[in-house]
Amino acid sequence: MQFSKYLNSLLDRAGQNVKTIVLPEGEDERILEAAHYVAERKAAKLIIFGKPEEIKAFYAKNGWGFDGIEIREPEKSPKLDEYANLLYEIRKAKGMTLEEAQKLAVNYTFHGTLMMKAGDADGMVSGANHSTADTVRPALQIIKSAYKDRSVSSAAIMVIKDKPYIFSDPAIIINPTEKEMADMALASAETAIQFGLEPKVAMLSYSTYGSGHGDMVDKVRNATKLAQEMLENSPLKGKAFIDGELQADAALDEVVAKKKAPGSQVAGHANVMIFPCLDVGNISYKLLQRFYGAEAYGPIMQGLNAPINDLSRGALVEDIVGMIAITAIQAVK
Ligand SMILES: CC(C)(COP(=O)(O)OP(=O)(O)OC[C@H]1O[C@@H](n2cnc3c(N)ncnc32)[C@H](O)[C@@H]1OP(=O)(O)O)[C@@H](O)C(=O)NCCC(=O)NCCS
Repeated sequence: MQFSKYLNSLLDRAGQNVKTIVLPEGEDERILEAAHYVAERKAAKLIIFGKPEEIKAFYAKNGWGFDGIEIREPEKSPKLDEYANLLYEIRKAKGMTLEEAQKLAVNYTFHGTLMMKAGDADGMVSGANHSTADTVRPALQIIKSAYKDRSVSSAAIMVIKDKPYIFSDPAIIINPTEKEMADMALASAETAIQFGLEPKVAMLSYSTYGSGHGDMVDKVRNATKLAQEMLENSPLKGKAFIDGELQADAALDEVVAKKKAPGSQVAGHANVMIFPCLDVGNISYKLLQRFYGAEAYGPIMQGLNAPINDLSRGALVEDIVGMIAITAIQAVK
């Protein structure tokens, strides 16, 4: 299979520090195929959940080997009790009983998440056949936010004219508060650095520096101020720039930026786009992908203690390959 230049660069980078990634959806041939390509490139070690005889038959039919790939049936795991107890300890204060934890420990998404919590895997990619909420909720409940006072959000890496951009949030926070937007800005700056960009974060709006009015403009303006203050007190100080509120043309076009946002360190050069709500974040990345053929990797969760990433149910094999490589890169501490 031919991969894009960007995807090849992700696979090379993942291979520099090989991590173990869980793929709970071994019933899906796209997952099995993607696992083969990742293992062949030695970009990650993979643990696939599913029926060994079915998975082995699919690999044999294609003439593929199992180097770097392990198959597991969670219901037969010798660690089931350990994982159930772990889940019970984490969730008992929220009212979970041991019986409920034992039932959930065989659920494939929970099982994969618990493997990570127990230190038996470094990351997980799921969602080819499950909703975002099914993948994300166990992650939020068990792996949790890396920062006590910050929310978890998501991002998509968009490759447009061979240049990568970070878009946030396409998947998690439906109507972010000012604080949640500020959290998103900092988390996205961290994601940008992780993927080799010097973050110039645009807090997007239909207004630039007060040209328009309304509650949504106020929200983005206040979120920008908060994000700038948080940046000043974070290790990202001097490594990232945040500005807003900016319209998309002012964020991206130098000529427009000079007119609408003179003196901005971000306008005209933005490579991280923060959207005011999930509608805009989700619709924009899908429009770019469908109209323009932009490569889109995501949603990538950001701000979690360890990487769990969600797949779109329409994901192609190369999208899954990309998400496994991204998850492996995020798993490097
Ligand atoms: C992500 C999502 C599933 C969270 O689910 P939820 O039902 O709101 O989750 P809950 O309120 O039950 O919270 C579960 C736990 O996660 C935590 N949590 C929820 N959202 C969080 C966030 N953004 N950051 C950190 N923690 C979060 C809660 O505090 C709670 O923790 P606790 O149980 O330990 O107290 C929900 O926000 C959602 O459905 N988002 C939209 C997803 C979607 O449809 N996307 C479409 C495009 S792909």
